Amino acid sequence: MGTRESNEETSGTGRRALLGAAVLGAGGAVLGMAGTARADSARHGGGHGGVKSLPKPTIIGHRGASGYRPEHTFGSYQLALDLGADIVEAGDLVPTRDGHLVCRHEPEIGGTTDVADHPEFADRKKTKLLDGVSITGWFTEDFTLAELKTLRAVERIPANRPHNTLYNGRWEIPTFEEVLRWQDEQTRKRGKQVWIYPELKHPTYFRKQGLPLEERVAKLLGKYRKDRRTSPVILQSFEPTSVQRLHKLVDNPLVVLLSSADSRPWDFVETGDPRTVADLVKPAGLREIASYAQGIGPTLDLVVPRDAQGRLTRPTTLVSDAHRVGLILHPYTMRNENPFLPADFREGTDPDAYGDVFGAYKAYFATGIDGVFTDQPDTGVLARGDFTG
Ligand code: G3P
Ligand code: CA
Repeated sequence: MGTRESNEETSGTGRRALLGAAVLGAGGAVLGMAGTARADSARHGGGHGGVKSLPKPTIIGHRGASGYRPEHTFGSYQLALDLGADIVEAGDLVPTRDGHLVCRHEPEIGGTTDVADHPEFADRKKTKLLDGVSITGWFTEDFTLAELKTLRAVERIPANRPHNTLYNGRWEIPTFEEVLRWQDEQTRKRGKQVWIYPELKHPTYFRKQGLPLEERVAKLLGKYRKDRRTSPVILQSFEPTSVQRLHKLVDNPLVVLLSSADSRPWDFVETGDPRTVADLVKPAGLREIASYAQGIGPTLDLVVPRDAQGRLTRPTTLVSDAHRVGLILHPYTMRNENPFLPADFREGTDPDAYGDVFGAYKAYFATGIDGVFTDQPDTGVLARGDFTG
């Protein structure tokens, strides 16, 4: 799959494992930051002039403020704005059986909703092959939107972010159309342009099922007049051919996501394109991407690899190579908790405690990246302040 996160892979704790920390304690400090965040953002300028008008490095709220709230809910999106995120990743997009786009990180929703507690949906549980990986659970494409709206979001990793379970059951699954309206409401309320950064999930998988994503995204963006070069909507996908398709449909800024160097985008697997991410980050690969996209979203490890002990090594030439062909870089994903940080920035042995994330930000920002996805946008905004002075 093209959705792995290298800082999870190298944590030695397994995917999605060992997140957590004293979130309520962090939240108390966090809430006091909203005014500072707004002032900082205002100093950097508004959002009417396209991507170039965004503060640098740009702080992108990953699945909202998913370090503090169940991901991809309006509670998470709203908090990301309150904490000063310049852009909210609202959302990762997957379709329903009746063709609506909803915000979930992947089609399987057993881990992020209370669907397992709904006996009326027990027979929808299935095992499917998703981008070559066998997954058992409940899939959005087997539900109508009306059915999905009866579910409620829950924390993905309750063992590691136990405080976030306080909000289980509070929010429903947002649709992309609701997000587009919410964006306008929030822009009006806050007097400041709100940006969003939706990702198209598994576009080849869904196209093969008769549920293509790109045309649906383009139609909705057109309906809300947000399909232009300067529209405050950046679109992203792990599948380059999906981004190429979007390039023909809309004028929005486009970003190609890049997983680990040895991985192959799933559309390449399906079409027989032998190239891996290692090929795409070479100058020729970047030049090709620059012919249809404005940026790349690499793993942080593609920018600064880690050694066998998980410590940062010397940065690669990716930042300068991408900038040379006019691409911006928005790597993913910064998280405050020890297991997700490079080994040299972990503090103590508690897997749920925060490490020296500000030290890690300093190292990554020094490479010249244009922004970063983070689960804790308030921390990112503070780190930017440290970096820019
Ligand atoms: O979209 C950037 C980042 O979110 C990619 O990782 O798996 O969280 O969607 P993922
Ligand atoms: Ca994403």
